[in-house]
Amino acid sequence: MAWPSLSPSELLFSISCVYLFIYYFFHYFVSSKHKQPTVPVCWPVVGMMPALILHIHDLHAWVTGIFHVTHCNFVFSGGWFPGMNLFGTCDPLNVQHIFTSNFQNYPKGEEFSDIFDILGDGIFNSDGDIWRTQRVKAQKLISHSCFRAYVATSSRDKVEKALLPFLAHATKQGHAIDFQDVCLRFTFDITTKLIFGVDPNGLSIGLPTVPFARAMDDAMASVLFRHGPMVIWKLLQKLNLGTEKKLANARKVIDSFVEETIEKRRAEKKEMKQIEYMPDLLSSYIDDNETGKVDKFLRDTTVNLMLAGRDTTGAGLSWFFWLLTQNPHVEEKILDELKSVPKSFTSDGMVIFNPEELTKLVYLHASLCEALRLYPPVPFEHKGVVKDDMLPSGFLATPGVKIFISTYSMARMEGVWGKDCSEFKPERWISDNGKLKYEPSYKFLSFNTGPRTCLGKHMAFTQMKAAAAAVVYNFYFEVVEGHVITPRFSIILQMKNGLMVKVKQRNVM
Ligand code: HEM
Repeated sequence: MAWPSLSPSELLFSISCVYLFIYYFFHYFVSSKHKQPTVPVCWPVVGMMPALILHIHDLHAWVTGIFHVTHCNFVFSGGWFPGMNLFGTCDPLNVQHIFTSNFQNYPKGEEFSDIFDILGDGIFNSDGDIWRTQRVKAQKLISHSCFRAYVATSSRDKVEKALLPFLAHATKQGHAIDFQDVCLRFTFDITTKLIFGVDPNGLSIGLPTVPFARAMDDAMASVLFRHGPMVIWKLLQKLNLGTEKKLANARKVIDSFVEETIEKRRAEKKEMKQIEYMPDLLSSYIDDNETGKVDKFLRDTTVNLMLAGRDTTGAGLSWFFWLLTQNPHVEEKILDELKSVPKSFTSDGMVIFNPEELTKLVYLHASLCEALRLYPPVPFEHKGVVKDDMLPSGFLATPGVKIFISTYSMARMEGVWGKDCSEFKPERWISDNGKLKYEPSYKFLSFNTGPRTCLGKHMAFTQMKAAAAAVVYNFYFEVVEGHVITPRFSIILQMKNGLMVKVKQRNVM
């Protein structure tokens, strides 16, 4: 094969292209590792996409670095990729404006519901009247005193019958365990019980595979991929390939679990002839005759609540325990506080607390808030724009631009949380008189802010406190030497490599 002959000008042009390529490769892809983060270069056609792809493995840290140099706001150009032009912000004033003051102008939007179509028309995925009606109903049920009591007893039961025995077994075995997996199973079991009235017992010795849990994990991993260019995932969806195939399979498993459970629950209710009160949310929705709820509604509602409640609480709990291993002085203080709380004992002699008593503890609450601040289980959110609107930072938001809000980065901005923003300091939540300090939700964004504030905050704290108190009192953890803790790029902020620990029995004097 003969080499094509080039004219001198073509040769010069080709050499220049190669030179430029090598220069930029070294400048941005190699030497940038040793440099302070900067705003990514905007290339013709592909915009800033190369930098995004290069940093996808450490996205949160990278984005945070950019926010440091751009003072909380920056424009990301996705070049010719549709849906990839973003305005990124972690500026509390913008957040307050978007989520509260001009809430109507920033819906989740059609693109969001396209990406999360697994959620159907549920509360997470809807805007306007459909969202409002569901929110009113869900709020009424979740804040009802009977449901709250059910949350407390279910959490205590799971701690007593599953979490503590599992950890006691692990101490005897002496093997390292992935405590993140344990936390996720703990909250998965409780959430399934609270929503569907059935306990899948995923947290038990041997850690069995629960197909419904696996399907939800697969679904979320595939949905994450949909945050990239739409053309790619739409094509995969058409061809039923890769992540889209995985998502379609996961949907089948989720739908058949939900369908079967709804059927069973209906049958059980008929048998009981409404005499006995069933406290799970599904039963309450089935009872709600006024709107003649149909299975599609029940499916969408329960799947949305599952997504909202399970991994968020489990992930928050895992980060909390990891932070304790790194900050033994905080663990000591929690232990000191627990000493004054009335205790009960399990049949194996382990200490367990009544969730009601734990609501009074200031330091435990402050430590959980601090963990949720530094490692918010929902690390980023995005919103659409209805009409032109000037944000407090001076950016003109226009329809077609996606607003990307990083909760993870906001926690790490000195201008927002002070010079010690990156430190784990529960004390920042406690005022001089020893009471909990109020922080506005547009600054402590972990549970969202404005009309779409999380409905499960109380429920999440009940579960986390029940687990945290009993585990800290009975056990302590040693992180396996050399185990690297780093966030995974996922919809819910989890640890990429899990939390590998050795469990040790604690004897409190
Ligand atoms: C530590 C645990 C939790 C955290 C950090 C958390 C955080 C959040 C966040 C950030 C949102 C807004 C998401 C968005 O709009 O895209 C949200 C919404 C929501 N959360 Fe939670 N959540 C937690 C636990 C729970 C639990 C246990 C439930 C109970 C099922 C729950 C129910 C909801 C619901 C129903 C919404 C939708 C509210 C709406 O759009 O009006 N959450 N949560």
